Amino acid sequence: MKKKIANWLRNMASAFERNEHAPTDQLDAEKKSAANLLDEYVSGMPHAQHAIDALAGWNTALPPNIGVVAGNVALYNDPRILWGIEQMGSLEGKRVLELGPLEASHTYMLEQRKPAVLHAIEANRLSFLRCLVVKELLGLHIAKFFLGDFMTWLEERPETYDFIVASGVLYHMEDPVSLLEVMAKRTKSVLIWTHYVSDAAMPKGDPRREVFVGEPEIIERNGMKLRQYRRSYWGAWKDKSFCGGMHDLHRWLEKDDIIAYLKHLGFDDVRITMDEPNHQNGPSFLVFARQTTATA
Ligand SMILES: C[S@@+](CC[C@H](N)C(=O)[O-])C[C@H]1O[C@@H](n2cnc3c(N)ncnc32)[C@H](O)[C@@H]1O
Repeated sequence: MKKKIANWLRNMASAFERNEHAPTDQLDAEKKSAANLLDEYVSGMPHAQHAIDALAGWNTALPPNIGVVAGNVALYNDPRILWGIEQMGSLEGKRVLELGPLEASHTYMLEQRKPAVLHAIEANRLSFLRCLVVKELLGLHIAKFFLGDFMTWLEERPETYDFIVASGVLYHMEDPVSLLEVMAKRTKSVLIWTHYVSDAAMPKGDPRREVFVGEPEIIERNGMKLRQYRRSYWGAWKDKSFCGGMHDLHRWLEKDDIIAYLKHLGFDDVRITMDEPNHQNGPSFLVFARQTTATA
């Protein structure tokens, strides 16, 4: 014991000695940092706004009762999701997969319908963390968020789902046709909101075509020919609020090809609404597709 105390005193003494000989600018810096708050700390009363401010790049607003300022887009009561749920029928006790939850607004809407399982796969680190903040602030307890690529999840995980929500993701894919194929393997009901290409809605010379790269590609899959239009984000991904895909080169599909390929994949009941040929970023529509004849 005596030996331990002696060692401790010796260590203290040499620590003081080190400090005595520290250069004055180091001591000044130490004094300053003691006076100021350390970088990663939040002082004062805990508040939901602190949790929002802890992360950059918010796109979406939270329901007003939460009392925070985040992004501008109010997606927590999105008519696209309301319509999709109406087509699908009750989600109670169902297995639901959401692709690219962004900041969990749609996840919140889906959770309110009491599914048994609600998996949400997000590849963007910052978006994933923003989802976790929303999960906490909105008290989501069914939803489970996973950080990674939903393509790999759909390709490799054995789970099937009653409903897949693929809003705002198809047109961000490097290989959108494969996304349609893997969804068809994992569910019989899918909701897709996407931009599309159409000569009628977006004729040649339309400024919305300027972001396309090179000539359209024609590919053949399962005996069907599909047209793909390559695009670049032109550096937009440098912004913290970027919410596109994980590869700069991504491909848009033709509207008619999306519908035809869904049918080809067994989705015999295809319903379309909210077709917006004049959407500022490119024509878009909302599709609910169901395989009514597929065996379990
Ligand atoms: C345009 S946002 C759509 C957000 C929301 N689903 C909606 O409809 O408003 C696309 C989201 O999908 C995510 N994402 C894109 N590609 C992904 C991938 N391969 N795996 C997982 N998340 C992806 C993006 O990070 C982003 O959060």
